[in-house]
Order: sequence, then C-alpha cells, then structure tokens
Amino acid sequence: MIIDVLTIFPGILKGPFSESMIKRAQERGLVKIELTDLRSFARGRHRQVDDTPYGGGAGMVFKPEPLFEAVEALSGEAARVILLTPQGRTFNQALARELAREERLLLICGRYEGVDERVREALVNDEISIGDYILSGGELAAAVVIDAVVRLLPGFLEEESTAEESFSGHLLECPHYTRPPVFRGMAVPGVLLSGNHAAIAQWRRCQSLRRTWERRPDLLAKAELSPEDRQCLERLVKKDE
Ligand code: ADE
Repeated sequence: MIIDVLTIFPGILKGPFSESMIKRAQERGLVKIELTDLRSFARGRHRQVDDTPYGGGAGMVFKPEPLFEAVEALSGEAARVILLTPQGRTFNQALARELAREERLLLICGRYEGVDERVREALVNDEISIGDYILSGGELAAAVVIDAVVRLLPGFLEEESTAEESFSGHLLECPHYTRPPVFRGMAVPGVLLSGNHAAIAQWRRCQSLRRTWERRPDLLAKAELSPEDRQCLERLVKKDE
C-alpha cells in the first residue's frame, strides 16, 4: 500500500512513523508512507497556502490551487483521497478495514477554518473525523487513521491477533495477566494457571462479555452471541440485581 500525506507540518508526523511497528511495516515493504509539504506546491515568494474567506469572518481557508496541484501530482486518479476534518464521518474499525483494502490512500490534513469548498467537491472522496473534538489540525488524526489501517495490512500481525481483538467481534477484550502469579497481594485468577484450555477460553469469553456489558453496552447489541454467552450475561444481570 502507498499512503501519501499532504500537510503544512510534516514534522508533526515524522515521529509516529519512524518508531516501532509502523517503522517495521515500512522496512518490510508492506507500506510506503510519503509526507509531502503542501507549501512546496504553493506559488509566490511567500509560498502562501491559505487566504481570507470570501464574505469575511475570522480565520483562514486553504487555497484551492496548491491542493489541486499537489493531489494531481501525487496520485492522478489512482488514490482514494481523504480529508481529515471534524465534519467527516467518524472513524472506526470497520472503516479502518475498508481503507486497508485500498492500494493507495492520499490523506489531506486540514488546518485553520478548513479548505476551499471546491477541494471538497472535486478532489476529495471521503471526509473522516476521529471523534467529536477539535484538534488544531488533521495531522494527529492522519496518524491515528494510518496506524489503525497499517496494522491491518496482510503480514503485519498474525491473523489471529487482529481477528480476536476488541471491536472485531464487537466485544472488548478480557483482562490479561502476566508473571508473577501474586503481586503485592493481588493474585492472578486461578483458572488462568490451571492449564485447562477449555476452561480458560470460557473464562476469557465470559470476562469479555462482562467488560463489554459494564463499559460499552451499546456494542453488545451488535455482537453475535451464542447460547453460552447469553447464560453468562444472565448470570451477570442476576448478580447486579
Ligand atoms: N481536524 C481537527 N479536528 C479533527 C478531528 N476530530 N478529526 C479529524 N480531523 C480533525
């Protein structure tokens, strides 16, 4: 996969992509992430990328020319062009999976009051928000989207880990423990030390249901539940009453 990012602050994004797993994914050739400074497509002595809004008002707006030229130079018709903006559809795991199937993405990091509307109309395929809060620009949102997408690329993780994790099956993960078995008086649940794989799997599933029921009951409505799952939930509800 190729991911181009258009930003006026490439420095913000250098860190997240030059460490850990995303760095490894690039080294292994799973993804090529290119940061492009939008200013290099701006004209004039000041390389101005923004201007005041027609009709007046506060703030600045990204001019159309540098964005059109940059997108045309980087991708032609090939890439799915995404604008990061609080006005977009909310990012989630399903959208991450959808984007992970693309060959090429081009992310535009918005700033200021936004972009000239003609950019939205003619260039952008999708607008994505990472949540209902306002960041000072789309760069950190782009980092979030790229991280979530890249870790789903084939070969990044063993298949099992992404299939089992939170949200894939609409359930939160169960609690995890590692050594020592007792730490400052707090013991690891006995079943995890039992070596009984069936009992451990049942415990994990029930804990996962419990976490989801306690913290994100909205997700339970979307989950596929077996008769055993329903029994586990019934026990939780009874305990609560
Ligand atoms: N730009 C500013 N806030 C944002 C958000 N919440 N999501 C995506 N891009 C943004």
